[in-house]
Amino acid sequence: MSNKIIINQKINPYKKEIIVSGDKSISIRWVLFASLAKGVSKAKNLLMSEDVLAAIESIKKLGIKVNLKKKECKIYGKGSNGYKYKKNIIINAKNSGTLGRLILGLLVNTTSPIKLIGDKSLSKRDFKRISDPLSKFGVKFKLKNKKNLPLTIYGSQNLKPVTYIEKRGSAQCKSAVIFAGMRTKGLTTIKAKKSRNHTELLCKYLSLPLKIKTIKNFDKIEVKKINQFKPLIYNIPSDISSSAFFIVLTALSKKSEITIKDVNINDSRIGVITILKKMGIKILLKNKRNYKGEKIADINVKSSRKIKSINCPKNLNSSAIDEFLVIFLVAAKAQGISYFKNLGELNQKESPRLKWGEKILNKMGIKTIVYKNSIKIFGNPKLVINRKIVIKDYLKDHRVFMTSVIAALSFGGRWNIHDRDSVKTSFPNFLQIINNLKNAN
Ligand code: S3P
Repeated sequence: MSNKIIINQKINPYKKEIIVSGDKSISIRWVLFASLAKGVSKAKNLLMSEDVLAAIESIKKLGIKVNLKKKECKIYGKGSNGYKYKKNIIINAKNSGTLGRLILGLLVNTTSPIKLIGDKSLSKRDFKRISDPLSKFGVKFKLKNKKNLPLTIYGSQNLKPVTYIEKRGSAQCKSAVIFAGMRTKGLTTIKAKKSRNHTELLCKYLSLPLKIKTIKNFDKIEVKKINQFKPLIYNIPSDISSSAFFIVLTALSKKSEITIKDVNINDSRIGVITILKKMGIKILLKNKRNYKGEKIADINVKSSRKIKSINCPKNLNSSAIDEFLVIFLVAAKAQGISYFKNLGELNQKESPRLKWGEKILNKMGIKTIVYKNSIKIFGNPKLVINRKIVIKDYLKDHRVFMTSVIAALSFGGRWNIHDRDSVKTSFPNFLQIINNLKNAN
């Protein structure tokens, strides 16, 4: 089968209830926590994507047994000191920044050097942001070009607790340091700009020695060395980042409505909902509930005739960081000029996404101005596309692919989008759900 997709038509109106797959951040964290627990952890609705499979392969390399079935994944943890650090271990994080960065926090006590590699996209990303703080624990690193993969980590048996200030709003940096703190005697203190907090919530649920105090936009986190902890039986909620594609498709399409079931609506993840509501999109959160510290709801969205432009508050950047590409599509149809600021972190993702966001908009005929790390998008409520648009050479970034599909189905035009396989990274059944919506009537 060709690895590109051709879309020549807008989607017809639909009214549907859908389920998207398990949350990627929580799935990867579940695998890592389960690998440290003592006993058999079980997860339902684990995201079966390449990033999560890479996490499973990584813990297997560390001597942890896994039984992966469609309905349930079992991980046979051997306790917090249960990893087997054989000689010449190579861990392949493939496309996953989350896996590559978080696992380094757990490897700080390795007794043999471990090599970390990744795919072409991950090998271009910054790992100095992780090796710098972890070095303070007494760990040594060798990195390609001093900041990239492949890298080798040389662990220490004499780890020293650190004080770390995380200013980017990066949950990956924060979590890597929490994991290293969990391996280190004494008190590790982190002052972190607010970002997704799934690691902290799992620590709390497992009664691990971690304390958090919130001071304005920062969290002060204190973590101590962990003892053994119980296995983690977990039902992974659906991913808000995957849901965002359908929220936007529905908002931009005519006479449509969608309900997305059982989605994780953790406050640190729902920037997309806050932003789109400010832009006039009709979104309701129904059936809200709590699950092991995480919030869950069903998300209902209706087509929106009038879309307002937004001057997006930058304090929403972290909680919407993976959704800006689709948010830009909404801005493309808004009345007026939208403004998104301080988005330098977007260019640190699987591809330089601020650049790609702008490229897609320009190909659609939307005017933009990018200045430093901010973008102005000149919305056109009457936007209809007739031209041919080719999207390729974007480092196979799953979210660039899916955003392009949503743009094609929302605005029309003749789209030729390469690398459909990229969805396997985070959302393997994305195109299946799209097809179900197409055949809804
Ligand atoms: C993630 C954190 C974010 C996000 C990524 C997943 C996580 O990255 O973009 O997709 O699970 O911790 P940063 O921490 O680098 O912002």
